[in-house]
Amino acid sequence: MTKRKTSKGKGQGSGRGSNSWKKQNGPRKEFVKVEFTRHMPVLLQSVLEQLGLKKGQIFVDCNLGDGGHSEELAKLMDGDITIAGFDLDQDAIARAKANFEIAFKDLQKKPNIIFINDNFRNLTKALDEKGVSKADAILYDLGLSSYELEESGRGFSFKKDEPLIMTFSNKRDGGSEGEGEGEGDGVGETASAISEYSGADANGADSVQFTAEDIINDWDEENIRTIIESYGEDKFAWKIAKGIVKARVLERITSTSKLAEIIKQSVPGFVRFGKTHPATKTFQALRIAINDELNALNETLPQAINKLNAGGRLVVISYHSLEDRIVKNFFKKFEEEEEGKILTKRPIVPTEDETDINPRARSAKMRVFQKK
Ligand SMILES: C[S@@+](CC[C@H](N)C(=O)[O-])C[C@H]1O[C@@H](n2cnc3c(N)ncnc32)[C@H](O)[C@@H]1O
Repeated sequence: MTKRKTSKGKGQGSGRGSNSWKKQNGPRKEFVKVEFTRHMPVLLQSVLEQLGLKKGQIFVDCNLGDGGHSEELAKLMDGDITIAGFDLDQDAIARAKANFEIAFKDLQKKPNIIFINDNFRNLTKALDEKGVSKADAILYDLGLSSYELEESGRGFSFKKDEPLIMTFSNKRDGGSEGEGEGEGDGVGETASAISEYSGADANGADSVQFTAEDIINDWDEENIRTIIESYGEDKFAWKIAKGIVKARVLERITSTSKLAEIIKQSVPGFVRFGKTHPATKTFQALRIAINDELNALNETLPQAINKLNAGGRLVVISYHSLEDRIVKNFFKKFEEEEEGKILTKRPIVPTEDETDINPRARSAKMRVFQKK
């Protein structure tokens, strides 16, 4: 995972495609010597182009994260833009606020930023409550940020020794501090088939009802296997599920490193010593299940298309085939329903230059739809 220097010096808010990252920040090693992690916005230049925004317009950033895309957009617009930024993670909202304070200090006109600590599955309701009736462009940059992976302490990485939590939101049980409950419209087929494995509550609210530790220790073997197969597409899911259930008889599994070791011991030797860590797919699967990621995506995309002004763009960056399939199918459906047209017959992917600097971008696929 590439890190970006977040102090006020070089590196702060400077990303405009990989070449200018290199020009302004020097060779790759510069990015590794950091004070703390700032998520590097993926496909930044293409995103700015594809959003097609003009000064004075309204932009919805559904995955604010560290605010990288929004920050560069606001600078490009000389601050003359309204941004409604969603993030489920309270830490992300706080980090984006802090980053913006530095980044926009010297702008004569400050962007109008509306922070929304809520799930993007509640898009319509949350925006309506903030008085945002329509938007000129909407961006999704799915998944998790470098901060969440590396520093949140919530157990997203099998390379760390952390408690098995894996929730984007820090909220537990007590309901949403955010903008309210789920809309629940239009759950798509892919995710609804396995929707009972959702970590969100029945209303689709953003409080989290269970963690990775709960799944690993309390669920039966068949359900654990189904999650790893469905969301991780791991062909050794059955072996991993068996290994987990056998290990937990001796002792409750509470840490990422313990789980990673159990997975390693459960898979065949050629996988154990292969190029990719054998826990990669299981960790992805658990994260998707706990955060109910596919259902949230299925619910939000129809809301997004309804929120767009005529000519407005919907831009989605996904990081694995399950997400990309949902986006692709929705865009096809929108076109069939004469909502507008697909602008990317094939997804836009990062250049080698970008993935060299930011390996996280490697699996990114960006699709763009324009409303009629
Ligand atoms: C890849 S990061 C976004 C990075 C951001 N574009 C940047 O340049 O800094 C994804 C963010 O989306 C948030 N997130 C994931 N699923 C979400 C959801 N359903 N609703 C709201 N936020 C979500 C995560 O907490 C994370 O901060």
